[in-house]
Amino acid sequence: MISIIPSEAILIEETQQLAKHWGFNYASIIPENSASPFYLQLTPQHLQLIQIGKNSPGAIFVDFTSGQVAHRRLYGGGKSQTMAKAIGLNKISRPLILDATAGMGKDAFVFASLGARVIMMERSPISAALLSDGLQRATYDNDIADIIQNISFIFGDARQLNSTIQLKEIPDVIYLDPMFPHRNKSAAIKKEMLAFQQLIGEDLDSDELLDVCRKVAKQRVVVKRPIKAAFLNNTKPTYSMKMKKHRFDVYGCTSVV
Ligand SMILES: C[S@@+](CC[C@H](N)C(=O)[O-])C[C@H]1O[C@@H](n2cnc3c(N)ncnc32)[C@H](O)[C@@H]1O
Repeated sequence: MISIIPSEAILIEETQQLAKHWGFNYASIIPENSASPFYLQLTPQHLQLIQIGKNSPGAIFVDFTSGQVAHRRLYGGGKSQTMAKAIGLNKISRPLILDATAGMGKDAFVFASLGARVIMMERSPISAALLSDGLQRATYDNDIADIIQNISFIFGDARQLNSTIQLKEIPDVIYLDPMFPHRNKSAAIKKEMLAFQQLIGEDLDSDELLDVCRKVAKQRVVVKRPIKAAFLNNTKPTYSMKMKKHRFDVYGCTSVV
């Protein structure tokens, strides 16, 4: 179980509440003999994930207000970017998009900033805690508060959709970006992604997601894959939209964007 520590005494109670809510181990400091190189830390600014050791990507936290995510919102190409076209953002008016593998929420935030209503779904308590923290802080940012208003969050496993998890409204589109198991250790995987692969696993059950989601979505399911990866569940999509390193496989629609 991952440990969570406060960066300062004033945050002890809040850190204990987070530990209880998400099922983390509360510690006042990181035990020296900790078996895991990872721990969570609550600071006055945010909740962050730390990896100890030389391959550390630095503190990982969800930030919708600045950095890469803000850059993508302002300069990412709007509705003409490939990801938006794959989703159908230029065709469906104010769609409801379920990002069933939300991770750090970067893709989902792009959809919301382009006018979609978005449900983020995540099953890892570590990612879910980081994401909830980022969403909560973003509500106080005047530039993006109206975007955040259109985002809701579900903590759970998307394979349970329509069985134990019922949605209030049927999403027009479901977006999937499960972790891809990179067997080639020399592959240029970003350190952050590598840290998550080590910490929460490789999503080896993601083939199951496609069938479940195709039964739930109203219009289409879009799957993000590395450019050379096999189709999810070996199922040929209706069509694919390719980028340099990734492609978006679009299922369940008849018209080509
Ligand atoms: C590669 S990350 C997604 C990154 C995300 N697209 C972003 O922009 O930040 C994949 C995430 O999907 C989550 N995930 C995988 N299978 C899931 C499932 N069945 N239900 C909910 N979350 C799932 C994993 O826990 C992981 O956090």
